[in-house]
Amino acid sequence: SIIVLDYGSQYNQLITRRIRDIGIYSELLPNTITAAEIKEINPKGIILSGGPDSVYDKDAFSIDQDIYKLGIPMLGICYGMQLMSYNLGGKVESADNREYGKADIKVTDSESALFKGLPEEQVVWMSHGDLVREAPEGFTVTATSKNAPISSIADVNRKMYGVQFHAEVRNTEYGMDILKHFAFDVCEAEANWTMDDFIDQQIQKIRDTVGDKKVLLGLSGGVDSSVVGVLLHKAIGTQLTSIFVDHGLLRKGEADQVMASLEGKFGLNIIKVDAQKRFLDKLAGVSDPETKRKIIGNEFIQVFDEEATKLNGIEFLAQGTLYTDVIESGTSTAQTIKSHHNVGGLPEDMQFKLIEPLRTLFKDETRELGEKLGMPHDLVWRQPFPGPGLGIRVIGEVTEDKLAIVRDSDFILRDEIKKAGLDEEIWQYFTVLPGFRSVGVMGDGRTYDYTIGIRAVNSIDGMTADFAKIDWDVLQKISVRIVNEVDHVNRVVYDITSKPPATIEWE
Ligand code: XMP
Repeated sequence: SIIVLDYGSQYNQLITRRIRDIGIYSELLPNTITAAEIKEINPKGIILSGGPDSVYDKDAFSIDQDIYKLGIPMLGICYGMQLMSYNLGGKVESADNREYGKADIKVTDSESALFKGLPEEQVVWMSHGDLVREAPEGFTVTATSKNAPISSIADVNRKMYGVQFHAEVRNTEYGMDILKHFAFDVCEAEANWTMDDFIDQQIQKIRDTVGDKKVLLGLSGGVDSSVVGVLLHKAIGTQLTSIFVDHGLLRKGEADQVMASLEGKFGLNIIKVDAQKRFLDKLAGVSDPETKRKIIGNEFIQVFDEEATKLNGIEFLAQGTLYTDVIESGTSTAQTIKSHHNVGGLPEDMQFKLIEPLRTLFKDETRELGEKLGMPHDLVWRQPFPGPGLGIRVIGEVTEDKLAIVRDSDFILRDEIKKAGLDEEIWQYFTVLPGFRSVGVMGDGRTYDYTIGIRAVNSIDGMTADFAKIDWDVLQKISVRIVNEVDHVNRVVYDITSKPPATIEWE
């Protein structure tokens, strides 16, 4: 494996991702890991991620200095390169201007392992306030740019490398090549990590953890929890019971559809719980997004707790938590963007031990896993739907009436997207009710009613996303139908922001 130490950059999980994409297992680990612990893991390489700190800050994230003596190849990215330079005797300073965005670098040593065979001039993605002024002894400068004269460094003997730019983001033209060169040429790692290995490893791990105990799975009907269900059933058969909670925040017809497509299939045995009222009661009067998310997450666990008590002898709770959920809910170093239900909402005094077999996977990896497990295409490619459901698509306080508006408009959107043949093309699409009203005219009368927002994005793993460029004619059809068919809506707007700076959901 190649491990990535986490210095808090929002891009750090992407590094792990890129390394896995080239067939090498990779994990993001805390920067407090010791040299002894790394020796135990015995990775082929270590990458130090970027991060918001300045190496001179009093509380700046650091590294166990013995890690430098392990003889394992290292690559520092942005903050990682600065930290490495600072620790090994170089000089780091704050730049005259913060640099954010595309930059041109010039490779000054075309024989250097990272840049071998690549063009002399390349476009890279920079995002930094500090820079390396002097490389440590033993290092040579291998690339340079106008704002960062030391854009890349290398110490061939110690197999230590650094890049000031973010090689992991797609805006860095040859980023993938640079990472491949590090992985294959410097670390001499082999591309031997596959989804089949992952399945075998996880089945073994689940069996070891669970033993002869019973597991309860929260099934939502979405890709993630369904994949967990099939995987768990493969591992422990009838020791698994699944619960599907109808929290009243589902899309139109969804509860029936989920039961029809999963109950009795893949060996799954599902208990359906109708809990609409209790969720709505708990949400009454609450408008803060984070509070809403936490309430929904907590209520879920309560429902499970009650069902588990009825079932007797349940010790484990399985969830379809993905890597993205873990990262966005805030790791020890990355900032909390929003508390993804599954992660942020868990009560401290929870009775169960958790099993989250997808915790290290991204969405598209989960889909690949589903296909490998023989699940039907439709199920595996279902668009993502958040755990808190329509509860975070009614902005502000959630009421029955507002849920009905979102549900009906969302149904029309989905219908028209399907008719236009775009349902497998657009990664995720839904409607939102921002909750304000505006003036319109219908027939001869003035209206004062709600606005519906349409959100449609393309993404690979949900971490970044572009708004989908849906044809005007399709959008027009959707807009006309929503205003005509959904009571209390007189205006439709289209969200044309990407992520970042927006997120996909509005709350
Ligand atoms: P954001 O809004 O964070 O969403 O850009 C990224 C992806 O995650 C989904 N999402 C969630 N999924 N529990 C989930 O299982 C959640 O609490 C949650 N919040 C957002 C969102 O729909 C998008 O696909």
